Amino acid sequence: MAGIKNTARAAGLALWLAACNAGKTDIPPAETPLVRIPANFPSPRLNADNPLTPEGVALGRQLFYDKRLSGNNRIACASCHDPAKSFSDGVALTSAGVTGTPLLRHSPALINLAWANTGLFWDGGSTNLESQALAPLRAEDEMHQDLVELVEELSAVPDYVSGFRKAFNDDIRPGYVMMALAQFQRTLVSADSRYDKFVRREDDEDLSPMEKEGLLLVRQKCQSCHSTDLFTDFLYHNNGLDPVFPAESYDGLYTGRYRITYDRQDMGAYKTPTLRNLKFTAPFMHDGRFSTLKQVIDHYSEGVRSSETLSPFIPENGFRFSEREKEAVLAFLETLTDAAYTVNPGFTAP
Ligand code: HEC
Ligand code: HEC
Repeated sequence: MAGIKNTARAAGLALWLAACNAGKTDIPPAETPLVRIPANFPSPRLNADNPLTPEGVALGRQLFYDKRLSGNNRIACASCHDPAKSFSDGVALTSAGVTGTPLLRHSPALINLAWANTGLFWDGGSTNLESQALAPLRAEDEMHQDLVELVEELSAVPDYVSGFRKAFNDDIRPGYVMMALAQFQRTLVSADSRYDKFVRREDDEDLSPMEKEGLLLVRQKCQSCHSTDLFTDFLYHNNGLDPVFPAESYDGLYTGRYRITYDRQDMGAYKTPTLRNLKFTAPFMHDGRFSTLKQVIDHYSEGVRSSETLSPFIPENGFRFSEREKEAVLAFLETLTDAAYTVNPGFTAP
C-alpha cells in the first residue's frame, strides 16, 4: 500500500475535480440518514453488518463519554478524544491511560471516519471501527477494562439495559458496545469549513487571493496523498520524517505500516491524516513531534529525510517553498477550520 505503488495515481487537481463531482453515492440516501453526506465528499464506506439506527447512535454517544468503560472508572474514550479538540487530545504522547504510562503514538483526531475503510490506527493495525474499540478498552496503558466486568457494570445501569435492548433487541454484550461506539463515530462528519462553503458555493463564501494561491499549491504538492475533499486517501506513505526505522524497539512500532504488512516498501509508512481542523489538533504526526503547522510546512519544504521508501510524491530535498508560498499554504490550511464541529450538539457529551 506504500506510496511507491501509487505512482499511477492522478495529480492532485484531477482528484480534487473528481471529488467535486462526487455528489452521487452508491448507497441509497434513505439507508444512511444518520450520516450526513456532504455534496463535495465521495460515498461513505459503511458497514452493512452494523447499520446505523438512532438508538444505536445515541447509545454509542453515551458510551463514548462514559468513564465506566475503563478499569478504574476514570477514563472515557473522550479523555483522549475531546470534541473541543476535534476529538484529539492536545498532547504529543498521552499519559491519560489507566497506568499513566505515556503511549507511543499520538491520539489522532476523529473526523469523517465513515469514509475510512482501509484500516484504522496510524499503521492500519485495526480493520474497522467495530473491532477498533477493543484495543483501547483492553490495553493496560489505556482503559484496561475486563469485558466481563464491563458487561456487569453496564448491566447495573437501568438506562443501559433499556438502551441496548432498544438498539440491538438483546442483553448487553461486548460486541454491541463496539457496534454502538462505531455507529456514533460514523456520525462525526466535519464539512462546514470556509473551504467547504466556497467549493459548494454556499453563503457567497470566497477565499482571499492568498488562500487561493495556497489552495493551488496544496492541490499540486499535497493532494496526491491528502486527496479529495476529505483531504486524505486513507493510505499509507513515508512522508520523509525519519531516515531509519529501527525494528528492534517496541515490537517494531517504529517501522510504521511494515509492522502490519511485512512489506519492505511499507517501512516508515503511516496513514495519511486529514488536513481538516488542524487548528484544533496540534501537535502533529504519529508521534506528535511537531507542535506548530509552521514546523510541518518547514518539514515538507526543507526538512525531508530521504530513505529507500520515501514516497515518490515527495522530492528528496523537499518542496523548497518560498516564504510567500509557505504563508499561502498556511493561509489555505486555516480555511479548513470547522469550529462548529467542535461544539456540535449531536457530538458533545450527552
Ligand atoms: C489513553 C488515550 C486513549 C483512549 C482512552 C482512547 N483512545 Fe482512541 N486512540 C488513542 C491513540 C494513541 C490512538 C492511535 C493508536 C495507534 O495508531 O497506534 C487512537 C486511535 C483511535 C482510533 C483510530 C482513528 C484513525 O483514524 O485511525 C479510533 C477510531 C479511536 N481511537 C477511538 C477510540 C474509542 C472509541 C475509544 C473508547 C473505547 C478510545 N479511542 C479510547 C488514544 C486513546
Ligand atoms: C506522500 C504523501 C504525502 C504528501 C505528498 C503530503 N503528505 Fe502530509 N502527511 C502524509 C502522511 C503519511 C502523514 C502522517 C505521517 C506520520 O505521522 O508519520 C502526513 C501528515 C501531515 C500533517 C499532520 C496532520 C496530523 O493530524 O498530524 C500535515 C499538517 C500535513 N501532512 C500537511 C501536508 C502538506 C501541507 C503537504 C503539501 C505541502 C503534505 N502534507 C504532503 C502524507 C503526505
